[in-house]
Amino acid sequence: MTAGPRTIVLDCDPGHDDAIALLLAAGHPGAEIAAITTVGGNQTLEKVTGNALAVATVAGLDGVVVAAGCDRPLVRDAVLTDPRTHGASGLDGPELPEPTVPLDPRHGVDVIVETVMSHPARTVTLVPTGPLTNIATALRREPAIAARVAEVVLMGGGYSKGNVTAAAEFNIYTDPEAAHVVFSAPWRVTMVGIDLTHQALATPDVVERFRTLGTTAGRFVVDLLDFFGPAYRAKQGFPAPPVHDACAVARVLDPGVMAVRQAHVDVELRGEHTTGMTVTDFAGRDGRALEHLVATELDVPRFWDLVVGGIAELR
Ligand code: RIB
Ligand code: CA
Repeated sequence: MTAGPRTIVLDCDPGHDDAIALLLAAGHPGAEIAAITTVGGNQTLEKVTGNALAVATVAGLDGVVVAAGCDRPLVRDAVLTDPRTHGASGLDGPELPEPTVPLDPRHGVDVIVETVMSHPARTVTLVPTGPLTNIATALRREPAIAARVAEVVLMGGGYSKGNVTAAAEFNIYTDPEAAHVVFSAPWRVTMVGIDLTHQALATPDVVERFRTLGTTAGRFVVDLLDFFGPAYRAKQGFPAPPVHDACAVARVLDPGVMAVRQAHVDVELRGEHTTGMTVTDFAGRDGRALEHLVATELDVPRFWDLVVGGIAELR
């Protein structure tokens, strides 16, 4: 008997790759979006929230809960958002529709807590694709969510490299204290880091697959990638843009789309050169438990079939 759809909370900072992750989750029958919460990251909270409402509108998610969460990291000053990757709006490229999806008046952290506590135990998966401030704050507000969440599948970190510094990836670097809280909590965390997401490159033939869908959502993704590609090439020298956040949603929808290894992950908080690094121990040194899962290898054709197939379900 096939399992029903996975209930997810998407905590995001749209952002081009967050937008594609949201469209995938909206279209694919294997996911049911219980709520979308936003967090300051790629752009200011106000901008990423407006972007989330617009993308939810493109996805036809009229009844979905969308709530704004934290606008800054737990402790540190916000990392100044770099308009070079996502543009001044945070979602440059496509023309954004006037949202038909209303903004829920509750705080995003309260929505996360209420969603988890109101669903049966172990049925809600948290999928953060931005800085982890909302997730950490939700844990502080209601520690009981750690035992009720099915798992946390996050896009962030990396065991072999960084993308803001040599050691740290943006989502973790922006709020390392929040990441420390999330990785230290008694729940299962799967880290989908840039070692994995740099395999998810939206090459020209992938863009063409979205174009030939001939749908509003397909054209929207093409417009996203038409901006994201050159921006990523100019800033990070990639031949094609890595669609980071869609990898986290893909892991929830089809776990076999990527290989994972057990590990223990610590977040560096004090290193002059390494703050925000996800220090990943695959060996279990000193007999420590390998309680986290870390994504390593992507089945690239299976991934793009999943993403294009999911978005093909949208109008
Ligand atoms: O490092 C990649 C991550 O940072 C992605 O989530 C992207 O959207 C940005 O938030
Ligand atoms: Ca993101």
